Amino acid sequence: MRALVMTAPGGAEHSQIREVGVPHPGPGEVAVDVAYAGLNFVDVMARRGDAGYTAEWPYRPGKEVSGTVREVGEGVTGLAVGDRVVAAPVGAGLAEVAIADAALTVPLPNGVSLREAAAVPLGLATAVLLLTDAGRFEAGDTVLVHSAGGGIGQAVAGLVPLLGGGRLIGTVGRPGKAAAATASGYDHAFARDEALSEAVRAATGGRGVDLVLDPLGTEALDLDLAVAAPGARIVLFGNAGGGAVADLPPLGRLMAGNLSVTGFSHRGLAATAPERLARAIRRVLDLLAGGGLELPVTELPGLAAVPAAHDAMEARQATGKYVVRVAG
Ligand SMILES: NC(=O)c1ccc[n+]([C@@H]2O[C@H](COP(=O)([O-])OP(=O)(O)OC[C@H]3O[C@@H](n4cnc5c(N)ncnc54)[C@H](OP(=O)(O)O)[C@@H]3O)[C@@H](O)[C@H]2O)c1
Repeated sequence: MRALVMTAPGGAEHSQIREVGVPHPGPGEVAVDVAYAGLNFVDVMARRGDAGYTAEWPYRPGKEVSGTVREVGEGVTGLAVGDRVVAAPVGAGLAEVAIADAALTVPLPNGVSLREAAAVPLGLATAVLLLTDAGRFEAGDTVLVHSAGGGIGQAVAGLVPLLGGGRLIGTVGRPGKAAAATASGYDHAFARDEALSEAVRAATGGRGVDLVLDPLGTEALDLDLAVAAPGARIVLFGNAGGGAVADLPPLGRLMAGNLSVTGFSHRGLAATAPERLARAIRRVLDLLAGGGLELPVTELPGLAAVPAAHDAMEARQATGKYVVRVAG
């Protein structure tokens, strides 16, 4: 079978489509014939060689797929060969066959296409968990989202109206990406520059924001604190720049503002509380099946197109969510 293989840290020059052996599921696992796979920035961070992603090369990326069950491992119940599913493999999902834990393999409801479903196990599930579990979103909240023009940013914009609605303020690294954010539902989208704090304050009538979703390490943390309304939650869920991170805010500052700073990790949840992740996946699938949630995706025609798309993500030029058609 064909698979995307990253041979060494770096860029697309180290990404190859190779013939590799077909994997078989171990106990409690499922093999999926992959129809579509989602692209995610975490694969770019692994490719760059960021600490904590992979120490082993060659590396096989890919953490969300849709397709049909090909084989079930020992002890797996409730899933059968031929079932249409989504799954969150630990890695190696950008391939014709992927292996995932049965606990993170979820049947597709009728009416959800394999194409849109490929954005669910990592991207949309993360977005809904950021808002609900980690962010304690409440209807009417004002939410500030960094990198709002990207996959997670657009997923958040799609979900907020379905969670009761709120006000959405996005930031983008390049001014040209602001239009992508507003097109997906942000009320305001600002480039991150020195005037950002005043712009966010002005957009909220001086009150500040109730929730910040921040994948920028600690780069934007001073800004997050500056625009946090009393009682605000700040959720840190990435380190897109890949550099060293600074200390967290002093206790006195958090106490004085009744602020909370929370971390979120999809990988951590998959390892320690897979049932919570599976519940989020099912929740998003149900929203898609009900027709209330739409997440536009850009479809790549095959695995060979993935390295260039990873390049565009790394260069901050990509907007929205990408999925790749792997088969069928
Ligand atoms: N904790 C978790 O479990 C989890 C799960 C999924 C995703 N994430 C994180 O969520 C973020 C969004 O993920 P995504 O897959 O939807 O990606 P994405 O937003 O489509 O693309 C990543 C974005 O990161 C921003 N960025 C900031 N600094 C960057 C840098 N130095 N180099 C390249 N890009 C930089 C860019 O947007 P701007 O220039 O507009 O800022 C870029 O478009 C990523 O940071 C990812 O690591 C975390």
